[in-house]
Order: sequence, then structure tokens, then C-alpha cells
Amino acid sequence: MNVDVRHKSLQDADAGLVVVGLYEGDSLPDEVSGAPGGGDAKGSFKAMTRLYPGGPERLLVVGLGERDAFDVEKLRVLAALVVGEATKLEATSLAWAVPAYEDEAAAAEAIVTGTILGSYRFTDFKGDSKEDDEKPALESLTVLAGEELAGAVETARVYSEAANRARDLQETPANSMRPEDLAKRAEAIAAAQDEVTVEVLDGDAIHAKGMGGLAAVSQGGPVDPRLIVLRYQGGGDGPTLGFVGKGVTFDTGGISLKPGAGMSEMKYDMSAGAAVLEATAAIAELGLPVNLISVVPATENMPSGTAVKPGDVITQYNGKTVEVNNTDAEGRLILADALAYAIELGAERVVDLATLTGAVLIALGSTYAAVISNDDALAAELSAAGEESGELVWRLPLHPEYKAMMKGTVADLSNLASKREAGTITASAFLEEFVGETPWAHIDIAGTAWDVNRAYTGKGGSGYGVRLLVQLVRDLAG
Ligand code: BES
Ligand code: ZN
Ligand code: ZN
Repeated sequence: MNVDVRHKSLQDADAGLVVVGLYEGDSLPDEVSGAPGGGDAKGSFKAMTRLYPGGPERLLVVGLGERDAFDVEKLRVLAALVVGEATKLEATSLAWAVPAYEDEAAAAEAIVTGTILGSYRFTDFKGDSKEDDEKPALESLTVLAGEELAGAVETARVYSEAANRARDLQETPANSMRPEDLAKRAEAIAAAQDEVTVEVLDGDAIHAKGMGGLAAVSQGGPVDPRLIVLRYQGGGDGPTLGFVGKGVTFDTGGISLKPGAGMSEMKYDMSAGAAVLEATAAIAELGLPVNLISVVPATENMPSGTAVKPGDVITQYNGKTVEVNNTDAEGRLILADALAYAIELGAERVVDLATLTGAVLIALGSTYAAVISNDDALAAELSAAGEESGELVWRLPLHPEYKAMMKGTVADLSNLASKREAGTITASAFLEEFVGETPWAHIDIAGTAWDVNRAYTGKGGSGYGVRLLVQLVRDLAG
């Protein structure tokens, strides 16, 4: 989407739809208050009033609700609702006046984010039916504000487009989004950015390196796995950051086969890998001063005569042995190798994301992702980045008692806890075995990666993680 900043009045804003917010109890700005219908405009949250003041072709007054209760999340939601109004009116250009707010840069970012995410459509596989039922898409957004907000607006455009690209990767069906396709996307990111390099290991290299988790998960199917590494050298004087994202392009459960109902959703089991790739791309595009190593282990999880079986023992990249007591707990096996590898490559502070457990949906639903960390400072930084970006995280604890639940019978570890309870935490306790003393945080995004049903993410892939990781780096680098 075309996004720019112009210092113009509502009257002069040249767009198919001009939008102005109104707090409850406030009156409209003078320049439009006299328009027919102006007296009826409401400030209650989500109220929409259309005016025809004669200047701008169409003016939409959007209720911001009470001034004291207002925040940027509300603005993201409103911006997405406005996209819906614009679409109904077949307006392809939008101009939004930034409402008065304590942090106008954050408000401008929220308008851009809500508009870009709210405009998302995935039509790659629609064929001829594509144009039939669809109104024209929004092409441009002008933020009506001073030049000093141009940087914030451009930053928001970059990370919001990145989130939509992650959604494309998520939505693409598993027969068109294989490990090699994720690797191709990583290669394209590296080709587009001078400071980014890529390294991709194929199945043979994964075996040769002794990445027993990734090898075991992939061995049930004919599709070759990939271990994808993107490195971004942005400089700065902070520790090298590591991102790791689960890239299971389809999770059948393997021999511990999942039930048929809803299994198609398991194309989304690569959501974290997509978020890590596109966050890395956005961080590079923004030129943020950080050195970053991003690792995505990518594979299918399939049942067959060659598949890993319950009870099999594998050896992970760091030498620890694991009994695979449930082949559907495959995410932790591939993350274990990827975490150890990222740290070996030089990551000094690591954040991993994964659609790891169904249990996180029971605990937190689709509102918060769970964060589990061995480092209070990193956990606090992620919580703050979550509040700022709107991609919320809530911390769950670690404790030696959870670790004890992951002990193996014949091997060092089991990938299945001895009890069903605290499933999100016991999965993290397993991962903790592969990070040593490195500050690390694990984010379980199984509840937030798709079907979040917020106004600006709706159904389908949400791109969750892209905005959170970019915000984390902005905060760490700033
Ligand atoms: N990819 C799934 C987790 C998942 C489930 C994500 C539902 C989103 C919605 C993961 O690989 C898995 O199957 N985890 C198991 C672990 C269990 C066998 C210990 C789970 O959560 O049931
Ligand atoms: Zn699984
Ligand atoms: Zn999975």
C-alpha cells in the first residue's frame, strides 16, 4: 500500500474517504462542524457518521470513545473498521487525521498498522472467481499530520507489510509451502538486503551435522527438510540476538496421528518460522542497529513406514538423548536442535517462537501468547514490546518440578511429560535443556497465530510475532 504523510486540512485532503476521530463529549473541528449532519456525529467508540461537507468528497467521523479510556489498540481496531467502510463505499484512497493523543507517533503507527493489516486479503488460489465478488482494494493511505511523524509512519508501513507477507506464507497451503519454499523466501530476503546473508542446510547436511530432532521429524515423509539461517549485521553495541521459529509446514502428528477434524489447520504450524523470517526482513529494511541470527527449522511431520515411532531414541544436536514418546510433540524436537545451533553460531540472547502446544489455547485463548523465560529482563522487555505493538504476551513460570516431568526412562529426556497438566510449561522445560545459561525466552503462539478475530487480523493467519519482534529490537536498540 502507498502510505504518505501530508500536512493538509480536512478540506484539502484529496482522498476517496477522509477520516477524522471524535472523542465522546468533544465537538467536531470548526472546518467541518457546519456540514449537513455534523450535529449528529457521535463520539462513542466505533460510532461511524458520514458527512458531506462539500470540501472533501466524503468525510467519515469515527467515534474514539472516552478520552481517558483511549489507547492505540483501539485506534488499530478503528483503522481496520474504517477499511471496511472504505471498501463498502468503493473508495480506494484514504486520508486519516491523527487524533490528539499523548503519543502522536504511536497513534500514527496504529492508523497505518490497522489500515494495512485490515486490508489484507489472500487470493492467490482463487482463480477465476477472484474478481467476481470483490470490491476494489484500498490503494493508498495519507496520514494527515506534520512531517515529524513521517519516520513513525514509514516504520509502521514496513513492519505491517512484513506481517502481511508472513500471513501470505501462513495462508499458502502446505502442498505449495514446503520447507524448500520457506528457504526460497529466506533467500529472497537475503538477496533484497545488503546486510543479510542466508545459509540453508538440506536433509543430508542436517543428518551429517547430527541434528537428530529435525532428522527424526522429517524421516516419515518424502519431503526434504531445511535448516534456514538468516544473519543480519546491523551493528550496534548490544549482544547478538537470536530468533528461532518453528517451521513445520504440515503437522499430521506422525504415528501419533492427530484426529481428522480440523487437521487442515496444521498448515499453520509454520507460522512462527514465517514470523521470524519476515521480522528479520523488516528489521533489515528499517536498518535497525542490531546483529541478528535467525534460525528456522523447516519440515513436514508425516506418518509412514519410515516415520519415527513412539519410544524411539534420538540424539539432538547438543548431544542429549531423547525418547520420542509422542511423535506429535515434534516442535520441541526441531527447536532443540535449532536453539543449540543458534547459540553455537553466536546468538547471545535468544527468543524462540512456536505454535507449540494446544494447552496454551486453554490457558490464554487468542488474546495473549505465553512467554516462558530464564531471564527476567528479557521477559520484561517482551512484555513491554507486547503492550506497545498490541501483540501481547503473558509470562508463565519455570520450576525444577516441571523439568523433572521431562526426564526420560532410557534416555536423558522424554519429549512427552509424565503428566498432562501444565503442557505449555513442560514443553518449555524441555527447550530449556538446550539453551544452557544463555538468556532465552520461548513464546508459544499456538493461540495467537491464526483465527484471532480482532478487527485487524480476523480469521486466518494473523502474522503474530512480526510486530512483536520488530518492537523488541526497536526497544533494545533505542
Ligand atoms: N502443532 C501442535 C500444537 C498445536 C495444536 C498448535 C493445536 C495449534 C493448535 C504441536 O506440534 C502438538 O501437536 N503438540 C501437542 C503436544 C503433546 C503431544 C504433548 C499438543 O499440544 O497436543
Ligand atoms: Zn504436533
Ligand atoms: Zn506442531
